[in-house]
Amino acid sequence: MCANFINFLYLIASICFIVALKGLSDAKTARNGNVVGIIGMAVALIAVFCDARVSNYVFTVLAILAGGTIGIFIAKKIEMTALPQLIAGFHSFVGLAAVFVAVSAYMAPEVFGIVCDGAIKMSSLIEMSIGAAIGAITFTGSLVAFGKLQGILGSKPIMIPERHLINSVLGISIILLIVIFCATASMTSLFGIILASFALGLLLVIPIGGADMPVIISMLNSYSGWAASGIGFTLGNTLLIITGALVGSSGAILSYVMCKAMNRSIFNVILGGFGSQKSDKTAEGTTEKSDKPVAEKSDTSGKLAKEGNALDVAKLLKGSKSVIIVPGYGMAVAHAQHAIKEIVDFLKKNNVRVRFAIHPVAGRMPGHMNVLLAEANIDYDDIVELEEINDDFKNTDLALVIGANDVTNPAAKTNTSSPIYGMPILDVESAKNIVFIKRSLSSGYSGVDNELFYNPKTVMLYGDAKKVAESLVKEFDNI
Ligand code: TAP
Repeated sequence: MCANFINFLYLIASICFIVALKGLSDAKTARNGNVVGIIGMAVALIAVFCDARVSNYVFTVLAILAGGTIGIFIAKKIEMTALPQLIAGFHSFVGLAAVFVAVSAYMAPEVFGIVCDGAIKMSSLIEMSIGAAIGAITFTGSLVAFGKLQGILGSKPIMIPERHLINSVLGISIILLIVIFCATASMTSLFGIILASFALGLLLVIPIGGADMPVIISMLNSYSGWAASGIGFTLGNTLLIITGALVGSSGAILSYVMCKAMNRSIFNVILGGFGSQKSDKTAEGTTEKSDKPVAEKSDTSGKLAKEGNALDVAKLLKGSKSVIIVPGYGMAVAHAQHAIKEIVDFLKKNNVRVRFAIHPVAGRMPGHMNVLLAEANIDYDDIVELEEINDDFKNTDLALVIGANDVTNPAAKTNTSSPIYGMPILDVESAKNIVFIKRSLSSGYSGVDNELFYNPKTVMLYGDAKKVAESLVKEFDNI
């Protein structure tokens, strides 16, 4: 079929992907966004069958069916908390595909239409070498990220001596090899680029702790997009160029937003230094703890954290006019969202205004809390972002913090020596009463103590978030 028709289909698919991205940026429109994305992908597949270069339809259909079946199987089986490693795994495939396409284009340039006067075109040599380098970095980087998040490699950072020097040498070697490849088109330099990039991807991610991985995954997501875009140029495929650029830029923007919300430098992330000084807390985020509270602990000024019980907190909740729930990583680990929904339903029936305050980096991946709350059918209108809700804490009777910690820590505002200094936080401190549901007085991901536990307004309700939430629901029957 004619190239114009195929390009027209690509245009429709591209528009669908842009509209899908827009839809996915809000929980209310996310489902529709997904549907539009699926339509875009279907249009792109139709375009494949219209392409005169596709001669083996049986093979193409089988490949689509195999990929689709695996996708459906994984999507149905995957746990919400395992999404980061799933994404890392998928990115590794994108990276490897970019490497394969570059090698194929090099081996059979005439099939790809990139030959001019008997040699591969210079522009194609540039595209395929850069695409192969980014793809190879993405491949090994994503594999390491997957291994760490899945617990195969252990989540602690692995520090290789002189890693910054080694990384710099590798980076410079890759650039030199790309120049040599473009000048000579030699196979040795192409494979040199790929091998050096495999090593660089590995070394960039290996010093990063498991709990820091979401930022890295978002960065690798961006790399995989640029790799796909580069390969799009080699293949002369406009859709791949556009979608690759969409993934590349949205991944980069997301990484930037996450770094800003965590008050980190994006350059440290890119250079692979991020999280390297925080091995202890990183391990903390992934270890199991007992449900028992630690012994009462006092802060430096000798203040004690006050322990409460479920009945008293249930009464406090029911007697409040307005409650803001602050969910965090602990809610995700405990799968407490459904029990929390029961609390919300009870309170609403009793005319208590209930809202959820969402910090941009609560949990361990972007949108972590939103996804879990949506899964429990919490009303979208009750889920409010930090900037919108922060001023309301002072007019709120009770802030109920469930498995969150760092995102509430006032040290981020006051303690210039704190690692979280500068990170925007939810202004829980201003609420009239504060209740923390967590298993102990332990710190969160950042490894920093939270002075809010010792605030006279605060009551600690120790235990696993799901069990405590269920006990609150039971106590509602007794009041
Ligand atoms: P954290 O500060 O990590 O605190 C989570 C708290 O949950 C812990 O203090 C822990 O206390 C408690 N907890 C763990 N398991 C629990 C369970 N089963 N039941 C009840 N409580 C449990 O979490 P946060 O407030 O959500 O903040 C997120 C942190 O992660 C930030 O520092 C952020 O920078 C970082 N981070 C976020 C992202 C993204 S994109 N979201 C990516 C990387 C890093 P106990 O042990 O006492 O129970």
